[in-house]
Amino acid sequence: MTETDSPHSILDLLTTRRTVPSRGLGLPGPVRGDIETIVAAALRVPDHGKLAPWRYILVEGDQRDALGAFCLSLREARDGPLDAQIAEKERTAFSFAPSILVAIDRTRDHVKIPRIEQHYSVGASVMNAMLAAHALGFSAQWLTGWAAFDPKVHAHLGLEEGETIAAFLHIGTPQEAPVERPRVSVGDVLTVFGETPA
Ligand SMILES: Cc1cc2nc3c(=O)[nH]c(=O)nc-3n(C[C@H](O)[C@H](O)[C@H](O)COP(=O)(O)O)c2cc1C
Repeated sequence: MTETDSPHSILDLLTTRRTVPSRGLGLPGPVRGDIETIVAAALRVPDHGKLAPWRYILVEGDQRDALGAFCLSLREARDGPLDAQIAEKERTAFSFAPSILVAIDRTRDHVKIPRIEQHYSVGASVMNAMLAAHALGFSAQWLTGWAAFDPKVHAHLGLEEGETIAAFLHIGTPQEAPVERPRVSVGDVLTVFGETPA
């Protein structure tokens, strides 16, 4: 799919995009060229100091089930035997969306750029990736969960010292249209300095 096939104008996309839960994402998934387009968008973000404090690992195909099985084994080793339903949920956590982009946070101490600014850039990068996926006609969900914070999962995915997981970005085609969720309105979050709110 190309961007020009997409029904969305940029503003439509920005103002109407909805997350689709990973379990509601299926085929067709992004081809490798789509993934490269998504990552090209992800690196085009404000980045104070040009530190590129993000990178991405693509998990596809059988590697998704294998990652779920690995996480289940970790969880069982930590918590003991799990209820069958919970175990199944854990085992299949990465098995629905055809592609998972693992966003790696590579923020580090820097003489001039505070870490928090680097984290902002990571968040912007993940959001750009998500928007690019939507612009290509896919949907996505940004998930973390315990696995994103587990050092054994980090090692399993080959993270380097100091790297962490900012997102498991699940990408695929929505199997059903998502319903809107309650949101704050513009008036709730925008004030004009010097003007008294109505
Ligand atoms: C950093 C981050 C981590 C998140 N982790 C989870 C998660 O682990 N589980 C979950 O159900 N939603 C998680 N979410 C929320 C969903 O990605 C999403 O924002 C929510 O379902 C509402 O979607 P929408 O407002 O984009 O439509 C996370 C969001 C962010 C920004």
